[in-house]
Amino acid sequence: TIKIVMDTDPGIDDAAALTMALNDPQIDLKLITSVAGNVTVDKTTKNALKIVRFFNKDVPVAAGAQQPLIKEFEDAARIHGESGMPGYDFPEDLGKPVAKTAVEALRDTILASDEKITLVPTGSYTNIALLFSEYPEVKDHIDRIVAMGGSLGMGNMTSAAEFNVFTDPDAAKVMYQSGLPITMVGLDITMKALLTPESLQKLPTINETGRMLHDIIIHDGDNSAQGIAMHDVNTIFYLLHPEAITTRPMWIDVITDGPAIGETVGDIRGAYHNGKTNADVCVDIDAAAFNKWFLDEVASISQP
Ligand code: BDR
Ligand code: CA
Repeated sequence: TIKIVMDTDPGIDDAAALTMALNDPQIDLKLITSVAGNVTVDKTTKNALKIVRFFNKDVPVAAGAQQPLIKEFEDAARIHGESGMPGYDFPEDLGKPVAKTAVEALRDTILASDEKITLVPTGSYTNIALLFSEYPEVKDHIDRIVAMGGSLGMGNMTSAAEFNVFTDPDAAKVMYQSGLPITMVGLDITMKALLTPESLQKLPTINETGRMLHDIIIHDGDNSAQGIAMHDVNTIFYLLHPEAITTRPMWIDVITDGPAIGETVGDIRGAYHNGKTNADVCVDIDAAAFNKWFLDEVASISQP
């Protein structure tokens, strides 16, 4: 099994990524930490608890950063709705987050694990940056980071920037300079592996998990003819099916001010960093395999 922690801002696609990570037998999800992003951190924490409660799992949730390191916080409630995850009636009796902060919980979980941990951030990287600056000793106990965010091409927030990196570019810079192996799961693949209208239509017919995911995905009637991006889910797909994704090693720099703030600049030609690399960047994906896996994964989940 792959031992992971997820740092997340649910968020519709975060909820789907958590669903897969909580239930796939090849993944051992040790901890969920929340961060401000799609909505405020009190809401992302609550949404993470909703998913854990839905599956009756006992994975701890720790609440994290309320705002980015330096930049002012801007949410994405216009995409993810006021609550961040509307459209489905979750049980009322949610558990509580643990008493520790996300950074403390990350440190304790990572240091306590007998095997190295894979960090899977699917929100902005504020908690990760704080963890590395406060407790750099954790780095020796981290296998790698598989992070949703960034883009070699267009952004989805500005022309240059993808949302997670745009939200806290200073944290992204700390993460990319950490010296740890990083897989950048960015828009270059997540905008290719769209959940097709056919997949979306099948989803609620599979089981209650499928209905829950379907209902939160379509809450705003966003039925794009081409399909819907499930950005964060690509991290879990990559962990389980690396053969379906093409990566290229390169150096990633993060722009922290000016009109390109939040841009991830890939040194594709190796010209600026003399061929040195700090990331494996996902550049291509088998979209049909992603769709098939998504539905199979949902079908394999025993119902709560
Ligand atoms: C990222 O932004 C968020 O809105 C999504 O949850 C995903 O993590 C995509 O740019
Ligand atoms: Ca997210």
